[in-house]
Parts: sequence; C-alpha cells; structure tokens
Amino acid sequence: MNILCLGAAGFIGSHLTGRLLSEGHNVVAVDYYDDKIKEWIGHKQLTVIKQDIREETWGLSELVQESDLIIDLIAYANPGLYVKIPLEVFRLNFTENLKIAQICQKFNKRLIQFSTCEVYGKTPTSILNGHILDPDNPSYAKFGEDTTNFILGPVNKHRWIYACAKQLLERVLHAYGIEHEFNYTIIRPFNFIGPRIDYLLNETDGVPRVFSFFMDALLNGTQMKLVGGGHHRRCYTYIDDAIEAIYRIVMNPNGVCDREIFNVGSPENEISIRDLANTMRDIYSQEFRQDGIPLPEIVDVSPEEFYGKGYEDSDRRIPDITKAQTLLGWEPKWDTVNTVKTTMSYYVHEYRDLYEDQLWKHDIFQKALTSE
Ligand code: NAD
Ligand code: UGA
Repeated sequence: MNILCLGAAGFIGSHLTGRLLSEGHNVVAVDYYDDKIKEWIGHKQLTVIKQDIREETWGLSELVQESDLIIDLIAYANPGLYVKIPLEVFRLNFTENLKIAQICQKFNKRLIQFSTCEVYGKTPTSILNGHILDPDNPSYAKFGEDTTNFILGPVNKHRWIYACAKQLLERVLHAYGIEHEFNYTIIRPFNFIGPRIDYLLNETDGVPRVFSFFMDALLNGTQMKLVGGGHHRRCYTYIDDAIEAIYRIVMNPNGVCDREIFNVGSPENEISIRDLANTMRDIYSQEFRQDGIPLPEIVDVSPEEFYGKGYEDSDRRIPDITKAQTLLGWEPKWDTVNTVKTTMSYYVHEYRDLYEDQLWKHDIFQKALTSE
C-alpha cells in the first residue's frame, strides 16, 4: 500500500513507520522533525517530508490523492501542554486535524485517526465522591468504545480541552461516515510506553509524560514527584503490543475496521502512579544503578504546583478490548514490569552519557569534592 503517515516521527509514528516499511509498504512520512526515524532515512520505500502542517498550502491534497491510506497521529499529546497552551491544543488537535479529515473525505480515502482514551474522562467513582457502593470495582473504570458515557470536568479545568477536541473530532468523523459514507477508523490508545516515548527534560523545555519525568529523575538523581499523591491509575501498554494492534487495523481484514472505534490497551497492566514510581525506582536500583549515585526521593506535590492552574486528572481507565480481540484476533502480551524495564533500558543506554556531566553537580559529589 501507499501510506501517508502524518506525525510519523513521533513516538507511535516512529515505531509504526518501521513496521510499515518492514511489511513492504511505501510510506510518506510527514512531521516537523525526523530524528526519531533517522534509522530508516534512505530506505527506498520511505519519503520524508519535514513540514509544519499548520502552514496554509503545502501539498496535502496531492499527497492524499496519491495514497491508499492516511494515518493521522499529529497532536499535542502531553498534559503539561493542555494547561499551558490550550488554544494551540484546540487548533492543532481539532481544527488542523479536521482539515486532514475533510481532504480524505473529499478524495474518498480511508483515514485512521488517532484519538485518545482521555475522551472517556473520569470514572463515576470520582464524581460521586464516595457515595457509591464498592467504589474500587473495576467495572466503573472499564471503558467500552460504543457504550461508555464521557465524563469531563468543568471548563475552568482546561486540561480537558485535549479530550474535548479529540472527542469533537471523533463525532465529526462519525457524522461524515453517516452523511457521506466516509471510511475512517478511530484508535483510542491507552498509555503506550516504550523507547522514544518522549525526550527527557534536559533536552527540551517541553513537558513529557510521567514515564519520562521519572526516568529523568532516576538518571539525574532528582526527586520523583507524585502529583496529588500518585493514587491515580493507568494501564500501561508496551509499544510492540500497540503496533501489532495498529498494524491489524491498517490491514483491515474484510473491512472489519470500517467506521469503527478501537480501544488499544492492556487491561491487565493497571498500576497506580505511586506504584509506578516505586517499581521504576526498584528496577533502576537492581538493574541500572551506578555505584555511589543516590536513588531519588519520592515526594508528593499538588497538581497546581506541578502543572499550574486548570489541571484535573483522569482517575482511572481500563480498556475494554473485546472489540480488538474479536475483530482483529489481537491480544496484548507484555506485562507491566517487562514493559517498564524494557523502556527504562532504552533510556539508560541512550541517555546515561548525556547525564554524566550533570551527575557530577549532584550534592554527594560536590560534598566529596569539597571535603577532599
Ligand atoms: P508524539 O508527540 O510523540 O507524536 C506527535 C508527532 O506529531 C510528533 O512527532 C510531532 O513532531 C508531530 N507534530 C506535532 N505538531 C505538528 C505540526 N504542526 N506539523 C507537523 N508535525 C507535527 O505523540 P504520540 O505519543 O506518538 O501520539 C500520537 C497520537 O496518538 C496523538 O494523536 C496522540 O494524541 C495519540 N495518543 C497517544 C497516546 C500514547 O500513549 N502515546 C495515548 C493517547 C493518544
Ligand atoms: C496522557 C496524555 O494525555 C496523552 O498522551 C494520552 O492521551 C494519554 O496519556 C495516554 O497515554 O493514553 P496521562 O496518562 O494523564 O495522559 O499523562 P501522564 O503525563 O503520563 O500522567 C500520568 C499520571 O501521572 C497523571 O496522574 C499525572 O498527574 C501523574 N504525574 C505526571 C506524576 O505523578 N508525576 C509526574 O512527574 C508526571
């Protein structure tokens, strides 16, 4: 197939690009950057276009017409940004993505649109403030693609602009499907992690996701911060499992994915953020720690202190993956510890040298130097 992959050099996009090329597809990769796909640059079936898709005219219509399938991964996908630049989040994640969908619809091309598990928002347990029987029952947090209601916070908790923009885009695609027989598939990822998930803090002034905050703290010897006590829970999905599901959606056997929404996630891998911090610290201590470098403290911080005003969180989310199991024959295979350990191993080997200089600035080394 000729596949146009927008956001191909991001975390998911880079793994997907590798898989598509290895399966013999021709890939046109569009992204601002290309460093996460550098190992494939020069591959004869890959064309890389470094492009900001927000520019007025840059040839999207032509690229869409030349493709059999369009995959759209472009978005701001880190919660720190939803709070800092909500208007840009709305613009990129809704307005710009809608333009892509409209061009696909115009030329009658199939679109795979990346949405998010954040569309589900919060659980009934979180809003009923304890007035619910058996509040920890996982059924309150098990989200199904076509049946679960969405519960988002108030407008002044503007973190929800991300979920809301993605939800609105999903609704518009659905409407195009009904009114114009537009063929789309929506994917709702549940916390994928793996190599290249985010840049670490020292490389950018960006705001990565929690894995990268914790990894940075471990490599740098600084505090691991638990926002609001770290009691919120996530189901971490290893990127290889995720790519297997996505590839099956790409291949769309007998059209089973036409106008469908798929949760992609590992329901068995639920863990609280506090337990994630402890697990990562234990793994680091056992597998990767260098002599003499202290393990970071794990501390509590308030959401406002960490993210600023307007932050609110999803308390818990467990994917119901019955649809992917039934229609695609897909099963996630990676457990939480191996998912986290393999991802950590990548970062330790990629980044340790970069951090060496900074470690010398750490208190214990400074104390040792000054006492000599
Ligand atoms: P990512 O940030 O790594 O990838 C997004 C890519 O889009 C980046 O490479 C970025 O450079 C590119 N991009 C952003 N703005 C652009 C612009 N104006 N022009 C050109 N390129 C631009 O994120 P990801 O984790 O790979 O997520 C991919 C998609 O999946 C997103 O739509 C995200 O909302 C969704 N998603 C991801 C997860 C996850 O677990 N990683 C979970 C839920 C939803
Ligand atoms: C993220 C993003 O919204 C999207 O990329 C995506 O839709 C979704 O993940 C996903 O991957 O499925 P979230 O899980 O809230 O959402 O993002 P993280 O930044 O990884 O935060 C996870 C939890 O850790 C939150 O409760 C957050 O408050 C907490 N956190 C974050 C900490 O306790 N400490 C930190 O240093 C960073």
